[in-house]
Amino acid sequence: MKTKSADAELGSLLDWVEGMRKRVREIAREWEGREGNLIMILHAIQNEFGYVPRGVANELAREMGISMARIYEVITFYHYFRLTPPGSHTVQVCMGTACYLKGAEKLHGELERQLKLMEASGVRKGEFHVENVRCIGCCGMAPAVVMDGDTHGRLCPDAVKDILKRKRGK
Ligand code: FES
Repeated sequence: MKTKSADAELGSLLDWVEGMRKRVREIAREWEGREGNLIMILHAIQNEFGYVPRGVANELAREMGISMARIYEVITFYHYFRLTPPGSHTVQVCMGTACYLKGAEKLHGELERQLKLMEASGVRKGEFHVENVRCIGCCGMAPAVVMDGDTHGRLCPDAVKDILKRKRGK
């Protein structure tokens, strides 16, 4: 026998699906017939949902009359698109020329190392979403990292640990 809370959960899931379908339809229609529209639609979907969930991609394929393979071809070609939910924190490591020359790769390596250690000590995997980006426009502060929208510059690998700790409020 289903409980009331199971009914409520099912109800809210169905509401979410209905809302998602409506939103996908609206986005697809907004870009209908325009050149390169699949990329723009996927941008809009990622802005809306934070990533491109499989169910949403499926709905989009149905709405546009195209295959899932075509959608995944675009998603996997452009690094910008995400197939999994973003972490609570986003860390963007600048890999532009100035940052690269001043040790961005070492920063990235230390970041990955620190996150592995944090996960081993119980921090949820995926709490920090790390991505490499091109020049973020502050080459004078190279090497630079943007953490949840805040830019940190002239970083040495040792500073990465402190930034992560501060982010977690520890
Ligand atoms: S190359 Fe990193 S800010 Fe320009």
